Amino acid sequence: MSETAKISIQGKEIELPLVIGTEKEVAINISDLRSSTGAITLDIGYKNSGATTSEITYLDGEKGILRHRGYAIEDLAENSSFIEVAYLLIHGELPNQTQLDEFDTNIRRHTLVNEDMKNIFEAWPTGSHPMGQLIAMISSLSSFYPESLDRENYESQKLLNIYRLLAKMPTICAMIFKKSLGHPIIYPQNKLDYVSNFLNMTFKHVTEDYEIDPVMVDALNKLLILHADHEQNCSTSTVRLVGSSHSNLYASVAAGVAALWGPLHGGANQEVIEMLELIKKDGGNVEKWVNKSKDKNDSFRLMGFGHRVYKNFDPRAKIIKKACDEMLNKLGVNDPTLEIAKKLEEKALGDEYFIERKLFPNVDFYSGILYRAMGFPVEMFTVLFALGRLPGWIAQCHEMREHKQPIGRPRQIYTGYPYRPFVKRSDRP
Ligand code: SDX
Repeated sequence: MSETAKISIQGKEIELPLVIGTEKEVAINISDLRSSTGAITLDIGYKNSGATTSEITYLDGEKGILRHRGYAIEDLAENSSFIEVAYLLIHGELPNQTQLDEFDTNIRRHTLVNEDMKNIFEAWPTGSHPMGQLIAMISSLSSFYPESLDRENYESQKLLNIYRLLAKMPTICAMIFKKSLGHPIIYPQNKLDYVSNFLNMTFKHVTEDYEIDPVMVDALNKLLILHADHEQNCSTSTVRLVGSSHSNLYASVAAGVAALWGPLHGGANQEVIEMLELIKKDGGNVEKWVNKSKDKNDSFRLMGFGHRVYKNFDPRAKIIKKACDEMLNKLGVNDPTLEIAKKLEEKALGDEYFIERKLFPNVDFYSGILYRAMGFPVEMFTVLFALGRLPGWIAQCHEMREHKQPIGRPRQIYTGYPYRPFVKRSDRP
């Protein structure tokens, strides 16, 4: 099979090398296209363009496959802890017990944040969105750890920055939640595992003990694993692009949080629950809302449905849907929005519009139902997505640096005015 692609353009013919992936994916390496032909490619939204090679995550959108460093998401969700998957994503191998213990211990040592970070909360207007706070709080870590800005010490600082960010993220997320309630902050307890510590900081109150429920620990571990990485999605591409200018890790991840906030991306999990509540309030008429989502003159879209890559099913949605049933039963929670979600899924999957466009439930469709059953308010859902995605962002950003990739700087095709002479203000109409 030819390992090149022939392109004939405006009378020139060139051959460009193919890049063949582990699973036989094929890309045309167009690095020499412009120098050879003067032409560039144009792919609005990068629907058909690869930004990089990567060894971290493999997706097959047609077959509904998701693997991290070769391991199937189903196996990881069933058998690993979130911290173990974080190690796998960042270091490339599943840790043995010694490696896992060392990684876990290093993270536990850095769970406290600088006390002065509490002052930042004084500035937030009441009710400000947790994602806006999270962007600022993560970026502020570079102020509390200015040595992270020292480019000369990137390698020597790398592991410390990874431990600090992984360790402080749950503390910051819990602080944001507590502050939204006007409650005192609960400090991390390093004797607790990662997820138990986060649940304790989030739900314990200073006046009473909080029983950490193993059912919730298991469900949240699974949810965080399912969000841990997803190759070159919008927020991860943002982290890599910001990191490619050699911005520090905290600033790069803060940019990723900003991208994740969008309702078309991670913000969808909040939108899904608000959509289900709207349909419930409207009497649960799913047919009406499915039809509205198909109407081009109506801005309503079925949130939690569709995906840029998955054109069959999102394997994460299948796992979360099953966990929803199991956990709500174990917690004795009867959430009518789950029934509406199932009816909506059934209706949409039988509808020609959705079938033709290969629109299936994605990771955000059921996750909010689980988060709410755990006691999180809807405004915290995308913060939880960011907590899960953090190790993926870290791994991807470091892979970009380790591959010594150049600063990302896409080209464009200009479609504005040709040259025109300057017009003095007095001569303007
Ligand atoms: C995440 O990339 C990742 O990996 C992301 C993510 C991750 O883990 O990082 O998986 C997490 O972001 C999941 C997606 C969460 N977003 C939502 O659930 C928002 C609702 N979904 C859509 O906005 C949309 O499906 C996207 C943004 C997810 C994907 O958009 P694309 O790939 O740009 O597809 P498109 O908008 O061009 O849609 C193709 C067609 C259009 O109709 P036509 O113009 O062909 O007639 O499908 C229609 C769209 O109108 N369509 C929908 C729809 N999604 C797409 N119609 C109704 N409801 C929807 N949800």
